[in-house]
Amino acid sequence: MRSDEVILMKIVILGFGAVGQGVARVISLKREHLLDKYGLQLDIVAVADRSGGAVFDQGLDPELLLKTKNETGKLSQYPDFGVEGFSGLEILDKVEYDCLVEVTPTNIEDGEPALSHMLKALKDGKDVVTSNKGPLALSFTQLSEAAQETGANFKYEASVGGAMPIINLAHDTLAGSDIESVYGILNGTTNYILSRMAKEGSSYEQTLNEARELGIAETDPTQDVDGWDAACKIVILANSVLNLERTLKDVKVEGISQITPEAMALAKKEGYLIKLIGEASQDVLEVSPRLVKEGSPFAVEGTLNVATLKTDLAEDVTVVGKGAGSIETASAILSDLLNIWKAS
Ligand code: HSE
Repeated sequence: MRSDEVILMKIVILGFGAVGQGVARVISLKREHLLDKYGLQLDIVAVADRSGGAVFDQGLDPELLLKTKNETGKLSQYPDFGVEGFSGLEILDKVEYDCLVEVTPTNIEDGEPALSHMLKALKDGKDVVTSNKGPLALSFTQLSEAAQETGANFKYEASVGGAMPIINLAHDTLAGSDIESVYGILNGTTNYILSRMAKEGSSYEQTLNEARELGIAETDPTQDVDGWDAACKIVILANSVLNLERTLKDVKVEGISQITPEAMALAKKEGYLIKLIGEASQDVLEVSPRLVKEGSPFAVEGTLNVATLKTDLAEDVTVVGKGAGSIETASAILSDLLNIWKAS
């Protein structure tokens, strides 16, 4: 039954690539469901990317945003409410909103511009939901402290494992257990490449191009294949789930570009698959190709991610889910938005 009282959450989306567009799509798809089940209306009051933006305090039409972007390539062409020349920070300054959804392309050098966007929002007391790994892997403590200072919510379930539940699972469902380590496949692009190579003998270059076409690879796909994307996720888990203060430079990283079809065939002959595995514990922080047994829970294919949390009370808890993809990642962002609303 529809709740009598409708609560409005005003959202600014910065970044309108695969994830930002996925967020607009799920807000549109779930509009009635959110109103019926929770009495919650998510209004997108501003969106911006490098092509420009659109701003309307009564809420932009998510489908029209997608159509405008797909047909013209420019958000600034949004009818009546398109804007040009505004930076993300200016939008956060001028627009009245409740929550920033920060989904600009990830930058693992200095975290910008996402880091400044998130810090501004949090310092202004606004909630932040993000899938953006770079700033979290580089400046997790700074961001968490900024949130604590103003009491703003800071949520980042989508930054690790796309739709695979892991951070909120550890914080909420496994609350009370100490989590000692995390071990898992945390990059969809490399898992897609490795499983296609193992199964069909496809070439590395061909499958990497396919991953790019599917929109699962990073804007700079070397971050995926060289292991840095998985390394960011391992750092985020080390900080948020294991309570270790670590940053990207603490991770020992090796990617998959040296893995040959011959090495994969040899592993297969012995009943193994080669997977890019991330591991975080008090003593280890590492991403590297490792052998996993065929038929084991780690023998997942395609864009799936998998992770085992080793806990003191619940022993091992293993989760699997789509680690990349526009709608899949947006589903985790939507769940964070809902959790913020539920806690308010
Ligand atoms: N490029 C990332 C991956 C996207 O392939 O897993 C999700 O973080």
